[in-house]
Amino acid sequence: MKEILSVNDLRKIYHTPKQEIFAVDNFSFRVFDGDFISIVGPSGCGKSTILSILVGIEEKSSGKIEIADNIKIGYMPQDDALFEWLNVLDNCLLPLKIKHVLTKERKEYVIKLLKKYGLGSFLNSYPQNLSGGMRQRVSLIRILATNPDVIFVDEPFSALDYQSRLILSDDVYRIIKNEGKSAVMVTHSIEEAVTMSDTVIVLSKRPCTIKKIIQIKRKENKLPTENRKDENYGYYYDMIWKELDLHD
Ligand SMILES: Nc1ncnc2c1ncn2[C@@H]1O[C@H](COP(=O)(O)OP(=O)(O)OP(=O)(O)O)[C@@H](O)[C@H]1O
Ligand SMILES: [Mg+2]
Repeated sequence: MKEILSVNDLRKIYHTPKQEIFAVDNFSFRVFDGDFISIVGPSGCGKSTILSILVGIEEKSSGKIEIADNIKIGYMPQDDALFEWLNVLDNCLLPLKIKHVLTKERKEYVIKLLKKYGLGSFLNSYPQNLSGGMRQRVSLIRILATNPDVIFVDEPFSALDYQSRLILSDDVYRIIKNEGKSAVMVTHSIEEAVTMSDTVIVLSKRPCTIKKIIQIKRKENKLPTENRKDENYGYYYDMIWKELDLHD
């Protein structure tokens, strides 16, 4: 499989007027085409920092990040960041307009995606009239509009109730797999990590370092809600739970 991203010995120290915050230490990983990688770790350990550096919002302090030629990165922040004054279609077209790459074909592709993923009757609706899960789907389609190869997703379901999380984890998984994208997802949820990804990276407390990398093997790859019933689910859940040592 083709390697699309490699990170070596990433380190981040924030310098604020009052103090230095050591957020990330010795973080290395690689992403191959088609991977679905989850990053789990305790609150405040530095997960979002890692994503922000990888998508270029934040500077690294040291380390090496190599992105293969012609690889495009998409970023889905924790907050869906839809513009309330733009309808669903215009929200999705905005990144293309900003980059001056909006073509008839791209627009048709976006409309096709919106229809394919249950938003066909909402093209002219405004975000405030959508459910939380629908907003997240629009947000994901907006990212797909720019045709990224790999999508970095930060806690995509955190604002949703449990049932909506389950449904949306299936939706997000299906969209990412159907459209042939690789994904790196930060999550608090061991359940989401085990049911959605092939690889789970468990981080320590701040400054986060990698405690363990776990390859998830399933009998069959299905949707996350189905993968929950896989015979190895409990085994992986317990393994990650122990590694996370949230109690001390
Ligand atoms: N821009 C910043 N300036 C200074 N410190 C920051 C900045 N962003 C994050 N931090 C600090 O870096 C540490 C790691 O933050 P980060 O948001 O990466 O953690 P996280 O694992 O994503 O947390 P959460 O689980 O709450 O989402 C925290 O102590 C945070 O306060
Ligand atoms: Mg975070």
